[in-house]
Amino acid sequence: MRRITVSAPGKVILHGEHAVVYGKKALAASLNLRTYMSVTKRGDNLINLHFPDIELKLSLPCGIDVSGNNTKNGDVTSPIPASDDVIETLKKLSGLDVDASQSQTLAVVSFLYVYTEISKASKSPLPGIDVGVQSELPIGAGLGSSASYSVCLAAALLQLGSHINESKFSSNTETDTLYQSSWTHNETELIKKWSYISEKIMHGNPSGVDNSVTTFGGAIEFRKGNITNLSQMPEIKILLVNTKVPRSTKTLVSNVRTKYDKYVDVIGPIMDAIDAVTTRSIDTYSNLLDNGHSSPSLYKDLGELIDINQGLLRTLGVSHSRLDRVCEVTAALGLHAKLTGAGGGGCAFCLITPGTPKADVKEVMSQLRAEGFECWKTNICGQGVIRHWTHSEHYNIPPGFLPE
Ligand code: MEV
Repeated sequence: MRRITVSAPGKVILHGEHAVVYGKKALAASLNLRTYMSVTKRGDNLINLHFPDIELKLSLPCGIDVSGNNTKNGDVTSPIPASDDVIETLKKLSGLDVDASQSQTLAVVSFLYVYTEISKASKSPLPGIDVGVQSELPIGAGLGSSASYSVCLAAALLQLGSHINESKFSSNTETDTLYQSSWTHNETELIKKWSYISEKIMHGNPSGVDNSVTTFGGAIEFRKGNITNLSQMPEIKILLVNTKVPRSTKTLVSNVRTKYDKYVDVIGPIMDAIDAVTTRSIDTYSNLLDNGHSSPSLYKDLGELIDINQGLLRTLGVSHSRLDRVCEVTAALGLHAKLTGAGGGGCAFCLITPGTPKADVKEVMSQLRAEGFECWKTNICGQGVIRHWTHSEHYNIPPGFLPE
């Protein structure tokens, strides 16, 4: 097959962002919005990258190797993270203009590193390829655009190097398992591992929650790299609100680190409090299922936990006046919202409980839009990474991305 087409979902962190970096737990779920990648073999030694969402079009030779890692015929199951020196050298060799944006630079450098390292661990070097990427997610807004890119990158290139099977997925509409990937657990773990290598280039020292939920899909509890799949999560509706304020996850995580190191006796207990909020929220979601989704008092608790979590994040200094405004507008109609992801701008989510009057949701949406926010209603718990072979009404595969 000349072309490999994969997609991976975005994510929303319901609770635990930032605290998860300090070994606390996070509750995260995948979204029904996805990033798509197509990788088409060429007959020469060129890599052509075309990522219109970040206005990137670039042509590079295949043979760049500056890593110095001895991965040749090495163990593909033990990827080595890029050192700062290698990242700097790859930036110079990437052929990007000096005024290239941060997203363009990081996308190219992580691509080149993962390509080179997987190539060295393969029986024969990876061939020249055309790579197309398109995302339904806003870029750099805390909804996992970079994690879904990293997961697609790992899945497509591991497939290109024959490190994972062809994943001829099956469709079973009766059981509602629409597109089950046929990658084994170990293969999916391998995709997660390599996507983390790319995430490290983009974000420094991420906890791994984003690429984990984006790889596996559904809802997960994540703590220190350990993942518990929460199959017991009720299907909830949320309103996603994009403040359109740009921010960098790397900078926000490092600002919190500075504060934590300076005031560990003060900030430490805030991290503990966030952890307790996450635990209470996981328990509440599970109690909701036991109560047939219809307990107003449990929904009330979930709303209160969202408010408490937002307050704690504000104390960490990762909110923003536009995020606070989203919370004000939603609160005026009795709804509860908090930032999601790194904060500092980016996105918030607002819980839409089954009892919320449709007119209230409409009113909130129109007020937010009138104030310049972008918002959309969505379900959580989309399918994790998958390979696409044919057209499907369940996925918006971009034109020209499917195998010929
Ligand atoms: C970013 O989506 C979540 C943070 O907790 C960073 C991380 O977990 O790596 C802010």
